[in-house]
Amino acid sequence: MAQKLWEKSVQVNKNIERFTVGLDREMDLYLAKYDVLGSMAHITMLESIDLLTKQELTQLLAELKNIYATAEKGEFVIEEGVEDVHSQVELLLTRKLGDVGKKIHSGRSRNDQVLLDLKLFTRAEIKEIAESVEQLFHVLIRQSERYKNVLMPGYTHLQIAMPSSFGLWFGAYAESLADDMLFLQAAFKMCNRNPLGSAAGYGSSFPLNRTMTTQLLGFDSLDYNVVYAQMGRGKMERNVAFAMATIAGTLSKMAFDACLFNSQNFGFVKLPDECTTGSSIMPHKKNPDVFELTRAKCNKIQALPQQIMMIANNLPSGYFRDLQIIKEIFLPAFQELKDCLDMATYIMDKIKVNEHILDDDKYQLIFSVEEVNRLAREGMPFRDAYKKVGLDIEAGNFSPNKEVHHTHEGSIGNLCNDEISALMQQIVNGFNFHCMETAESVLLGRS
Ligand code: ARG
Repeated sequence: MAQKLWEKSVQVNKNIERFTVGLDREMDLYLAKYDVLGSMAHITMLESIDLLTKQELTQLLAELKNIYATAEKGEFVIEEGVEDVHSQVELLLTRKLGDVGKKIHSGRSRNDQVLLDLKLFTRAEIKEIAESVEQLFHVLIRQSERYKNVLMPGYTHLQIAMPSSFGLWFGAYAESLADDMLFLQAAFKMCNRNPLGSAAGYGSSFPLNRTMTTQLLGFDSLDYNVVYAQMGRGKMERNVAFAMATIAGTLSKMAFDACLFNSQNFGFVKLPDECTTGSSIMPHKKNPDVFELTRAKCNKIQALPQQIMMIANNLPSGYFRDLQIIKEIFLPAFQELKDCLDMATYIMDKIKVNEHILDDDKYQLIFSVEEVNRLAREGMPFRDAYKKVGLDIEAGNFSPNKEVHHTHEGSIGNLCNDEISALMQQIVNGFNFHCMETAESVLLGRS
């Protein structure tokens, strides 16, 4: 049985151990690669301030690279009796290298270790989310352009309202993702600051070179104040969760639209058969389960910021074990959101639209405003025209001209997809993922 990093003479009660370790031995597996990277940066800095010899550093870095490779292959395990990833890495080093392994924790605490691991993990995940968002965005813009001339009913109160188009429908969700991406970028920028060196939350009497570890890990800058760095635990997760929630909000709305429009009673779109699921009793069923699950998963993700807030709410400054629980809901959320984004991208790319929806007379009345506007353009005051068309409708004398001329920015005939794409591109250009990636591969000796 491995000893705890902090165990001295008294062994902890087994039930207390089980309760306090909780899900850490699973959750910390998400962080393993990043824990190793963080330690590589930390010990490189320790050597520069003479807390390790060159030879010790070389030995430790080589072994950390091996551990990183194991984690990369998904083979890193946290052994029975070992509390967390931080203890496991130190244990592996001391097992292999003896006393040198015990030197790596100078000037550190698991408090800044986990802070750092979470930030390194999260910024890498944000990159993947951003890439998935961008892919969905491009699919939506492509579909918007492809179907820009296909009209559909627009609704208010779920009552037929005015002419809309598939150009507008697809494009609306694309533009929504551009805003979501901006939020994600803000979260990324707050995440991409170095907390390492804050130790337990109050710094260290060793002359740590925090600027050096910031550069080694490719962070934009530091969380300077060590007390603030520790206060970032929970805050970073909450901010990122808000960004994920806004993306999830876009997705769940789109998923509901797609389910509704795919229903026989609407018949506006048709999901590809290969993307629908069947019923065990009704042989005709082709159900939109993917979008139903997307909707529910994304609604769950929208609850994430609230859950995080409730866990961390009203904690005073300084570390508390409460924060550990955030990992359980935060770490798995990235894969869930990525799955939803990737599913949506796949289906929205293949979805078919009904090009003749408005031929059906039940949608006649959506042209009422077109007729009012035609009369107003001919000189009749708007209110009078409105009344005349209203009375014509009531008397059964309304037979619309179904041609639609909308020309202003963002309308059916002028979608501004180029402008929306330029906006997205500008936001995408504002991420600097290459800095973190280059730094990490330099640290691993891979570039
Ligand atoms: N598992 C802990 C967490 O996630 C690591 C930090 C432990 N620090 C402590 N003082 N007990 O928060």
